Amino acid sequence: MFLIISIFFLTFAKDSPDPNDAFLNQSIAVVLGGQQKHYYDNNIVVHSSTTNYENKYQDVPSNYFDDDDETSDFVEQLSPYDYNQEIDLNDLRVSRIYQNVNKKEIMPLIIPEGNMSNYAVKKYLGDGTFAFVQSGIRLTDGIGVVLKQIKSKYLWWARMEAHIIDQLNEEKNVSVVRLIDMYMNNTSPVLVFQELQNSKTLDYRIYSLYHDLNLEEIKRFYLQLFYGLYVSHKKGIMHLDIKPSNIIVSDDEIQIIDWGVSDFYYPLKEYRTRVGTRHYRAPEQLIHYKNYDYAVDVWALGSILASTIFKKYPFFKGKNNDDQLLQVVRVLGSKDFFMFCEKYNIKIGQELQRRLEGYERKALESYINEENRELVSPEVIDLLNKIFVYDHRMRISAEEIVQHEFFRR
Ligand SMILES: Nc1ncnc2c1ncn2[C@@H]1O[C@H](COP(=O)(O)OP(=O)(O)OP(=O)(O)O)[C@@H](O)[C@H]1O
Ligand SMILES: *[C@@H]1O[C@H](CO)[C@@H](O)[C@H](O)[C@H]1NC(C)=O
Ligand SMILES: *[C@@H]1O[C@H](CO)[C@@H](O)[C@H](O)[C@H]1NC(C)=O
Ligand SMILES: *[C@@H]1O[C@H](CO)[C@@H](O)[C@H](O)[C@H]1NC(C)=O
Ligand SMILES: *[C@@H]1O[C@H](CO)[C@@H](O)[C@H](O)[C@H]1NC(C)=O
Ligand SMILES: [Mg+2]
Repeated sequence: MFLIISIFFLTFAKDSPDPNDAFLNQSIAVVLGGQQKHYYDNNIVVHSSTTNYENKYQDVPSNYFDDDDETSDFVEQLSPYDYNQEIDLNDLRVSRIYQNVNKKEIMPLIIPEGNMSNYAVKKYLGDGTFAFVQSGIRLTDGIGVVLKQIKSKYLWWARMEAHIIDQLNEEKNVSVVRLIDMYMNNTSPVLVFQELQNSKTLDYRIYSLYHDLNLEEIKRFYLQLFYGLYVSHKKGIMHLDIKPSNIIVSDDEIQIIDWGVSDFYYPLKEYRTRVGTRHYRAPEQLIHYKNYDYAVDVWALGSILASTIFKKYPFFKGKNNDDQLLQVVRVLGSKDFFMFCEKYNIKIGQELQRRLEGYERKALESYINEENRELVSPEVIDLLNKIFVYDHRMRISAEEIVQHEFFRR
């Protein structure tokens, strides 16, 4: 039996700043792989990297803030959000679904002192961006656990991740990693997850040469994943870093992990567009539209579904932010793209505009080849056509996707 942790942590407090809200009053440098990626300076996220990353899908780095533009400095200004404002829910900038789930400002959990001697560390699993992860066992009953120790300066993110997973774990049938405990190891917060036995990340399953998933498994896995998104979105939560290495698969289970940059949706709130990982970023993020919503997760998971079906890894493979947008436009076409920009009054630079002109929409059927023919069906093409829609308010929702024909036969 798992510890019911939620009871202990009903006390919320606001003792650390919320970088997503741009309330930050100090400058925090974010250093990834030994290199300064960006820093916060009051309300401004300043991206300070000029490096272009090598674009090999095997090691897309797990960057919480993927800063990969060719421009030298990218400044992302987020307006402060007023949680008490009156909002016209028909405003074009507001999500079409679940607009009003989060009625008031949500504070992240307090991580308790806890008792780390309940756990024995077995082995080191990896060093992430903000955390290092070890496997271990819970000494009281010997169950396998994963200990995600987050660097002390990212305490706020750890508290948010804990809060979000805790809320999602209220649902029983959902493909979300299970948080069973948390504690402070000196100044570093540690989140304790129930280990998914014999699991691999989804990228291992789909990117490996074997591509050993058959159509039945693909349907089963993606139904569970979209169902997980549906439940999360219905609860007002966006994952914001859906990608194959944040999905773990065992023989009979699949789970969405790493809710480290997830956030609660508020209508008219601005969100960072450099969040997550380039290949899975939705068009609205790629053009730096900040009033985006749940639909970004649908795009990301849809891109992974497309790469699984067509055995093309990743499906949209851009070398940097603008190139990523170009790869999308080359498939979805220029005309709809410019209509989308006009509808939402999104301005793009002349140079970029010129690069994106002149592409016809390309039928997804043109990606069928000898390698993938047995996985492609009219139903999955129809589903992908409903996901790969520029206009996020017209894009099919996770709730609609789980009802789609593709999963019915
Ligand atoms: N519940 C779990 N069961 C089994 N393995 C897990 C579990 N949770 C996490 N892992 C493994 O630990 C890795 C890192 O977890 P997570 O993505 O939450 O942390 P991270 O800091 O983002 O690390 P990374 O940057 O490597 O993604 C995962 O890729 C997965 O291989
Ligand atoms: C924010 O920082 C300034 C100095 O940069 C300081 O004077 C002020 O008190 C700080 N405000 C808060 C709320 O911490
Ligand atoms: C506590 O942190 C230290 C160093 O950061 C690490 O080596 C150790 O495994 C952690 N222990 C637990 C139980 O989390
Ligand atoms: C922590 O857990 C260990 C082992 O379960 C136990 O022996 C010890 O008394 C606990 N300490 C506290 C302060 O609860
Ligand atoms: C459980 O999840 C599946 C998707 O994986 C869904 O189809 C089913 O309706 C869910 N059952 C309940 C009782 O919520
Ligand atoms: Mg991760």
